[in-house]
Amino acid sequence: MTERYGVMGHPVAHSKSPFIHASFAAQTSQDLVYEAIHVKPGGFAEAVKAFRTAGGSGLNVTLPFKQEAFALSQTLSHRARRAGAVNTLSFDGESVHGDNTDGVGLVRDLVSNLGLEIRSRRVLLLGAGGAARGVLGPLLDEQPSELVVANRTVSSAVSLCQAFSGQGVVRSAGFDALGNGAFDLVINATSAEVSGELPPVPDSALGRDAVVYDMMYGAAPTAFLRWGQAAGARLASDGLGMLVEQAAESFFVWRGTRPETAPVLEALRQSL
Ligand code: ATR
Repeated sequence: MTERYGVMGHPVAHSKSPFIHASFAAQTSQDLVYEAIHVKPGGFAEAVKAFRTAGGSGLNVTLPFKQEAFALSQTLSHRARRAGAVNTLSFDGESVHGDNTDGVGLVRDLVSNLGLEIRSRRVLLLGAGGAARGVLGPLLDEQPSELVVANRTVSSAVSLCQAFSGQGVVRSAGFDALGNGAFDLVINATSAEVSGELPPVPDSALGRDAVVYDMMYGAAPTAFLRWGQAAGARLASDGLGMLVEQAAESFFVWRGTRPETAPVLEALRQSL
């Protein structure tokens, strides 16, 4: 029987997830459909209920509903609990299980696709909102020598780091304290790009052979990636690979089979 999956968000019309999951399904011969479902703010719980009643098997959840998905999950994976957010819901009879594949998606893109070493490296994470929190645990699992979380509102970085203290070497900082940081990897998890802005990182934060990574993506390099290239980074990558890898992990959670991501990432890149 054809099983039903989808992604709920607001907005969601331009989501790449239907393309990605249809590609994974074709590649692994899985009998499923996957659709983008637009949900108005305030209507998330109702929309999930309707989807389940109609026989849906699982959902991805994107902005702004990841915290609501966390709240309505009856059971949670360790990584969802750590992230404080859910991007993958699985339905089995009456039960609703919440998981989060964002962090593992980022780490897999960095390590497997881009061939980067995180262990014993100095990592700078920009931002302290939901996107940053979602990836902090899996980044710390890679055991960087130090992970610094920098945020415009320093108090948010402080509380985020407190929540993860004991899980690795992690400390908070304001943007003005990042000079001569010699970071090996700088990850942008802010939403500055949305308003056409650039997080105010000093050029001197970049170490020799540094890599910059933006969790956002688009047809053209983001302002942050353009900054990184101009400041001398050896590699500047957007977050398209993370998108595909988090989708692959969700697909694995639902279907128990791991699709190949490289051809899907390549096709998606061409389509941008
Ligand atoms: P998300 O779920 O995408 O992380 P969010 O929780 O609203 O969204 O968090 C947005 C993040 O981007 C925050 O860390 C925010 O910084 P503040 O906490 O100081 O608001 C950061 N951000 C947004 N615009 C920014 C800008 N122009 N410069 C630097 N940081 C910015």
